[in-house]
Amino acid sequence: MSKASMWSKNISFTNGELNLSGIPASQLAKEFGTPTFFLDEEAFRSRAIAWRDGLKAEFGSNAGQVYYASKAFISTAVAHWISEIGIGIDVCTGGELAVALAGGVDPSMIEVHGNNKSLSEIDRAVSQGVKTIVVDSIFEIERVAASAKKHGVRQSVLIRLTPGIEAHTHESISTAHEDVKFGFSIASGAAWIAVEAISKLPELELRGVHCHIGSQIFGTEAFEIASDRLLEFMARYRDAFGVELPELDLGGGYGIAYLPSEVTVEPADVLPAIGTAVRAACAKYALQLPLISIEPGRNIVGPTMFTLYEVGTVKDVVIEDGSIRKYISVDGGMSDNARTALYDAEYFACIAQRTSTASTTQSRLVGKHCETGDIIIRDIQLPSDVVPGDLIATPATGAYGRSMASNYNHVPRPPVVAVIDGNARVIVRRETEADLLALDVAEM
Ligand code: LLP
Repeated sequence: MSKASMWSKNISFTNGELNLSGIPASQLAKEFGTPTFFLDEEAFRSRAIAWRDGLKAEFGSNAGQVYYASKAFISTAVAHWISEIGIGIDVCTGGELAVALAGGVDPSMIEVHGNNKSLSEIDRAVSQGVKTIVVDSIFEIERVAASAKKHGVRQSVLIRLTPGIEAHTHESISTAHEDVKFGFSIASGAAWIAVEAISKLPELELRGVHCHIGSQIFGTEAFEIASDRLLEFMARYRDAFGVELPELDLGGGYGIAYLPSEVTVEPADVLPAIGTAVRAACAKYALQLPLISIEPGRNIVGPTMFTLYEVGTVKDVVIEDGSIRKYISVDGGMSDNARTALYDAEYFACIAQRTSTASTTQSRLVGKHCETGDIIIRDIQLPSDVVPGDLIATPATGAYGRSMASNYNHVPRPPVVAVIDGNARVIVRRETEADLLALDVAEM
């Protein structure tokens, strides 16, 4: 089969068998079991480097930081790679902060997000000396200031703004229109109230503004509009306070290919247009070019993993229109890929360990969970000869796959295996039933 762009760089197909960095799928399954997330480490590194270098190429000395959005997927190994590559990391909970720190990330490379950070999360971030905290509510402004005072530091903060933009993506992952829980609305005046509140607190240093318009976005228009609205706000700040804010963070959201017909956004596809829009807005509002930061998550890790499953059962079901739908059940499901159920996300799949010359048939790839909505792929044409024991690979599961995995039905979560230069190693081990029972306080 020919290789479409949703497969990561070091995947190849030899005699119909999927190989990652030269290791055949059948060998990976034998060694690590199924379901398993396999991560193409070299692809991850090169994607992170491409964003780092792309930002630098576009903005030169005004390149701020690429913060890898760790919610997409994080482990201590990945945090370590991020440090080696020299980019920053965006965390939005104490848990993500803990993994970043355990992975050796320097606190000066950490940016802290979240619309409801707890007091202890704020205190840990401030006491660790994180680079910046992106404040999201008036309460939080006071809480961060109190923590900074307690630790005798001046904490740098960005303020998260909602520029009122409808990004064209699924409603649940669109974040910058007015009716959302995130940030301060520019239009309602809330953002200005926040700026004034911060200016009265000597423990806080307002470094700039931030927005994240949504996720899985193609095209540059929404980023261009956001840049203009945020820079207009920065000009208003300059007019009121007589100084310019030094940083503008445009968040993440760059789309990736999940299907053969789609194409992953590359840094060179978007950064020049964003650069042009930012420079035009700076000229319009007579501002110096600030440091420009971005927070790609999905775009770095999404294309670098695939999930390998084993087929357990196959069932032909006569559906409403009289045709037959083949239900192919694999050994994972909505516990390792919640995105189909949550966002009607679409995925591709293929038999991973062999070629098939059989004709294709309308199929549904489903999991092992006890509900009808446990669907990985609602509609896909797969060879009619899929049988129990076949391996099925779904590409582009690196972002919000393992990180959103659950233990529904007490299914242990799959491991993540990093593969590079022909070597495979576990970076997150498979959960066991003993892990699950370890949380259960028995009363017997
Ligand atoms: N920065 C902030 C402040 C964010 O909230 C997010 C994602 C990102 C950066 C990274 O966005 P990315 O580059 O990965 O699109 N679970 C959903 C996605 C939720 C995204 C939440 N915020 C999904 O599976 O599609």
